Amino acid sequence: MTARADTLGLPARHPGTGLPAAVTVYEVGARDGLQAEKRIVPTTAKVTLIQDLLAAGLPVVEATSFVSPRWVPQLADAAEVLAGLGPDLSRHPVLVPNRTGLRRALDAGARGVAVFVSATEAFARSNLNRSLEQALDAAVEVAAEARSHGLRVRGYVSMCFGDPWEGPVAPARVAAVSRALVDAGCEQVSLGDTIGVGTAGQVRAVVDAHGAAGVGPGDLALHFHDTYGQALANVYAGLQAGVTCFDSSVAGLGGCPFAGSATGNLATEDLLWMLAGLGIETGVDLMGVVRAGVVMADLLARPLSRVAAALLG
Ligand code: HMG
Ligand code: MG
Repeated sequence: MTARADTLGLPARHPGTGLPAAVTVYEVGARDGLQAEKRIVPTTAKVTLIQDLLAAGLPVVEATSFVSPRWVPQLADAAEVLAGLGPDLSRHPVLVPNRTGLRRALDAGARGVAVFVSATEAFARSNLNRSLEQALDAAVEVAAEARSHGLRVRGYVSMCFGDPWEGPVAPARVAAVSRALVDAGCEQVSLGDTIGVGTAGQVRAVVDAHGAAGVGPGDLALHFHDTYGQALANVYAGLQAGVTCFDSSVAGLGGCPFAGSATGNLATEDLLWMLAGLGIETGVDLMGVVRAGVVMADLLARPLSRVAAALLG
């Protein structure tokens, strides 16, 4: 790979005022990034991707998903992925939709799980085949059971910024769902802009509504999809609001198979470039992530992230 990185590997550093000194980049490429891909990626390539991302310094890499293989065939090899990673890496979380998923994850040796619910009724039905109330009850139950097994638990709330069927979503409604997840033992709640419609002022409103519900910025992560090109502006608004964990996906892979208008996630490379420019510590080697992204983008015949394309151009 010829890289302009020799001369221009990182942006000039101009720290902003009032922003956190360090943030956690939570990598979702191996799960969110792959789940909507029709071309089945070999298990060994998934394991290599995760190992390469960890070698680049990413602190958390969500490894896979123990959802129904009928619903998400790409991730039917979840147990094999964990076996390939080995016990030392089993702390990296896996997504589980229900008790069956939790049981499968436990049997595969997982030590961290993420449960997921929607802030809207329509997406609860589309994504989980349940009403919102049933889905939230189930997530609360699964989170409590996972905790009783000593697992770390993250919660996701989808459609926090807008829903393709229901339109705008009230911030207080999202906060009530997050509150229930925190009460159920979730260490962190990730707020998903599943279809990427959110804008910067709205991010502030949603984080503030959480504060009013007793869920502070330290309890939150932000999970942006870049459909409308707003993801980095939204991260910046999140930083200003005190959030210190951001989800992103190598090469901007991703989407949700059950929300047609969901496109790629915020690319990890693009996020790292902005954070480096702001002087915010992540502990991640950008070029290591670029290299991992090149391999997966080639395999899936997908474009590189903007930053990767610029660095390699
Ligand atoms: P269902 O069809 O209603 O399931 O699906 P069911 O409970 O009626 O069971 C039907 C069959 O599936 C049964 O088997 C179950 O055993 C089996 P049968 O008796 O017919 O042989 N089954 C399972 N098998 C393996 N693993 C399981 C499992 N559960 C049931 N876990 C279900 C309900 C929840 C399973 C289904 O709707 C599902 O898997 N949904 C997952 C959807 C998904 O993966 N969505 C994408 C992730 S969320 C997301 O991307 C958003 C996020 O990134 C944040 C954001 O961007 O906003 C997190
Ligand atoms: Mg997502």
